[in-house]
Amino acid sequence: MPVPAHRPADGDPLLRARLDALRDEGLLRSLRTVEGPVGPRIRVDGRDLLHLCGNDYLALAGHPAVREGAAAAALAHGGGSGSSRLVAGTLTIHRELEDRLATLKGTGAALLFGAGFLGNLGVITALAEKGGVVLSDALNHASIVDGVRLSGAERVIYRHGDAEHVDRELRARPGRPALVVTDGVFSMDGDVAPLAELVDVCRRHGARLVVDEAHATGCLGPRGAGSVAAAGLEGEVDAVVGTLGKALGSSGAYVAAHPDVIAWLVNRARTVIFSTAPAPATAGAALAALDVLAAEPERTDRLRSRAALARETLRGAGVDLSVPGIDPSAVDPGSPIVPVVVGEAAATMAATAELLDAGILLQGIRPPTVPAGTCRLRLTVQADHDEDELRDACLQVAAAVRHAVAA
Ligand SMILES: Cc1ncc(COP(=O)(O)O)c(C=O)c1O
Repeated sequence: MPVPAHRPADGDPLLRARLDALRDEGLLRSLRTVEGPVGPRIRVDGRDLLHLCGNDYLALAGHPAVREGAAAAALAHGGGSGSSRLVAGTLTIHRELEDRLATLKGTGAALLFGAGFLGNLGVITALAEKGGVVLSDALNHASIVDGVRLSGAERVIYRHGDAEHVDRELRARPGRPALVVTDGVFSMDGDVAPLAELVDVCRRHGARLVVDEAHATGCLGPRGAGSVAAAGLEGEVDAVVGTLGKALGSSGAYVAAHPDVIAWLVNRARTVIFSTAPAPATAGAALAALDVLAAEPERTDRLRSRAALARETLRGAGVDLSVPGIDPSAVDPGSPIVPVVVGEAAATMAATAELLDAGILLQGIRPPTVPAGTCRLRLTVQADHDEDELRDACLQVAAAVRHAVAA
């Protein structure tokens, strides 16, 4: 469609028309401003709300030690890193954090990225071979989808969680270099990828395997080490992507892998090479979060028991927690992501509005983040949610969903 002649200072008529169409479809998105630090409770428009939709699973973003870690790192190392890692931006605090992350993940090395999105773009484009194929789970995160597109390799989208489908596609392409990419815990569904089967298939076909642990680190496995460690597969995955902006309460991301892979990323991952190194404060916050996780491993246990409590309460109140296309046996009952599928966008947003009135922040999730017709309340729990408050909130969620569907 041609862009109508317009003066930019007066706005953009074509974009305005498209935004109006999104509003009519119930798909318009806008930004909500949070006042003060995030945590189990959150302040919005001057109101104190119960926070049921973030990714700060271990409640570390607002933790005093994490805030102090960020501040101390800024004072010691400065506000910014000043350049990309390869120019003059690799600071001692980056090295220290990479060593700690490699230890947590049981790999020989790790490399920081500015964000999980950049980590996936960087690792996928660097590890996909020319003339090769990249196989990606149908429900992988958008950053994986974009990384696969950018790689220029042949793209195969395999059925969600279906390692046999991966096997068949690889058998149909003998001798072709292949990369398989999956979320460890799926961000909108809370189920776990069949990692042991994927490792087996990749090993048999000589394919590389990348696992995105954005929603697994801190939440699953011994010491919160993630889904690969939970499956006993440390050393069996070519690269693990993890974020610092979710359970670790900071921002940024990393890839943990063998030093050969990390050295290759330093040479080929464009989102590291052509991007300013993470700010010292984010590294300081993440280091402090790792200290808290090591000192208080019960945080992960508490998170998992809160997740189980939310599931049990919702089910008890008559909420169907099944998600179309998701195998219930792949859902880890301790996973902090508890999706409640409502269906259409309007009903989902009505439930969000009712809950907001009741003092609960639980954002509705709509396409393109989830498939059409499966709009949902993606309820997430935190280790520091008060149990009684969480139980009551789940009963209110059940009521809001009932009202929205009946309307
Ligand atoms: C599975 C997954 N991978 C990657 C990312 C991107 O991470 P970041 O927010 O650090 O860019 C997200 C974020 O929502 C995610 O859910």
